[in-house]
Amino acid sequence: MAELGVNIDHVATIRQARRTYEPDPVWAAALVELGGADGITIHLREDRRHIQDRDLRILRETVCVKLNLEMACDEQVTQIACEVRPDQATLVPERREEVTTEGGLDVAGQLDRVRQSVERLHGAGVPVSLFLDPDLRQIEAAAKLGVEAVELHTGRYSLARPGQDQARQLEILKQAAAAVSASGRALHAGHGLTYRNVVPVATIDRMHELNIGHSIIARAVMVGIERAVREMKNLVA
Ligand code: PXP
Repeated sequence: MAELGVNIDHVATIRQARRTYEPDPVWAAALVELGGADGITIHLREDRRHIQDRDLRILRETVCVKLNLEMACDEQVTQIACEVRPDQATLVPERREEVTTEGGLDVAGQLDRVRQSVERLHGAGVPVSLFLDPDLRQIEAAAKLGVEAVELHTGRYSLARPGQDQARQLEILKQAAAAVSASGRALHAGHGLTYRNVVPVATIDRMHELNIGHSIIARAVMVGIERAVREMKNLVA
């Protein structure tokens, strides 16, 4: 059965919209754990647009399940990761102007750069996952780096129209998944997964971990808004 890592970056995005203290991702992480998540995922971006250094440091102390830190192969963030030592680091590409992580990491094209980050993280005792497009060339390159896991980017599948298009993207994911497992890495997947499209991915053979953020936080807003309004209405009244 696949484990669920919940990405709570969006909670921090709302807080940063006002540069205030709420909602606090640390508090959200505790509730996510109560909901049964197997992991908390956060992305410490170079531009600190959502998760802050303070969040990472407190979450390292308070999270009882797996703490997965998404990060770029960036000198400063790698240094922080080596100090804080999350349970897993997931290396992702990062561009300042992007809305979200748009593609997988090009490991094949920058093997030495990625290797440096992997070696530093391993040196600090941090297991590493690489976020890759479902592309066999990238999976082969990842195998050369001795990483513990590969997270397949499910963005194309998520955006595909239901029907033939989606079935084709699922087949591509399945072939990539088989290659990841055959290479001896743990199989992870994520990006754009929703309540509607998650099951075919969760049931791919040997799927070990799914990381899901946007859809869960979007649903949390919807299922929580009525109660939140009622509580404020009571105070106002
Ligand atoms: N996995 C990785 C590596 C990501 O970068 C993200 C987005 O931050 C996710 C999973 C979660 O994607 P989504 O928010 O679309 O569920």
